[in-house]
Amino acid sequence: MLLSPLATPIEEIHDRLLEQAGVRLLVKRLDLVHPVISGNKWYKLRYNLLTAREQGFKTLLSFGGAYSNHIHALAGAGHCYGFKTIGVIRGEEHLPLNPTLQFAVDHGMQLEYLNRVDYRLKNSSEITEKLKRKFGEYYLIPEGGGNALAAKGCAEIIDDIDQPFDVIACACGTGGTLAGLIAGLQGKRKALGVAVLKGAGFLRADVANLLQNSIDQQYNNWQINLDYHFGGYAKTTEPLINFIHEFETKHGIPLEQVYTGKLMFALFDLIGKGEFEHGTTVLALHSGGLQGRADLL
Ligand SMILES: Cc1ncc(COP(=O)(O)O)c(C=O)c1O
Repeated sequence: MLLSPLATPIEEIHDRLLEQAGVRLLVKRLDLVHPVISGNKWYKLRYNLLTAREQGFKTLLSFGGAYSNHIHALAGAGHCYGFKTIGVIRGEEHLPLNPTLQFAVDHGMQLEYLNRVDYRLKNSSEITEKLKRKFGEYYLIPEGGGNALAAKGCAEIIDDIDQPFDVIACACGTGGTLAGLIAGLQGKRKALGVAVLKGAGFLRADVANLLQNSIDQQYNNWQINLDYHFGGYAKTTEPLINFIHEFETKHGIPLEQVYTGKLMFALFDLIGKGEFEHGTTVLALHSGGLQGRADLL
């Protein structure tokens, strides 16, 4: 199975705010890593796909909400690499399907809906047995794709960066990507996660657990900022939407409102407030997610 990432560019953002703060801001365009498995998803799925193949699984099953980028990416991965895919979706079916789920079905994914109560119990033996009876043996990837193999894949993002930086920053959903970056940094330089969920203090323990499970080691050169959730997961505000539009017009890089828009807003705000020392180079990960943008922006 051929699973090498496309080379992705690093673009520098030029802006007065950055000049005034004496901070360089680079964007690693992981959104361009694969035509259908965009951004961090490619790195998160890589070792899961290889392991599933090695262990002889033909089917991949995972969970997500109706707008899940992970479900979108998993369907794309199944289509490209010859796996059957099952997406277990939270809530009831709504027709017509939204573009994320339509893409998934168009790429061969079978959708299974779980009501919200059952969905909360998705990792229980009762639900697992029910899914096994219905679908047979499958390789399980957790909701959001954030397991130890995902962190192992995301550690390789660091190897694919060919420019010096002091701080690498990413948006955090499950924290899997951040855990991978921390592993890849091996204690050098700094990693900053920007949580997109409200009240996501639990992420610090989740990231520490992922590090434990993937590399059996802890580091202290990382932080998670909890102040830029804009009301919660997939919630937006007018200032956020305006920022995204202005950023795209000025710098020619599209963002979306669930992850990368919040990350970039946070970085501009923190840089403007003098939170980074003069002379710092910050590298922001563009983790993709643009396919869900048209619906919501
Ligand atoms: C575009 C995008 N960026 C960032 C993230 C957050 O990644 P993680 O769940 O690894 O924290 C996600 C979620 O999978 C995403 O879809």
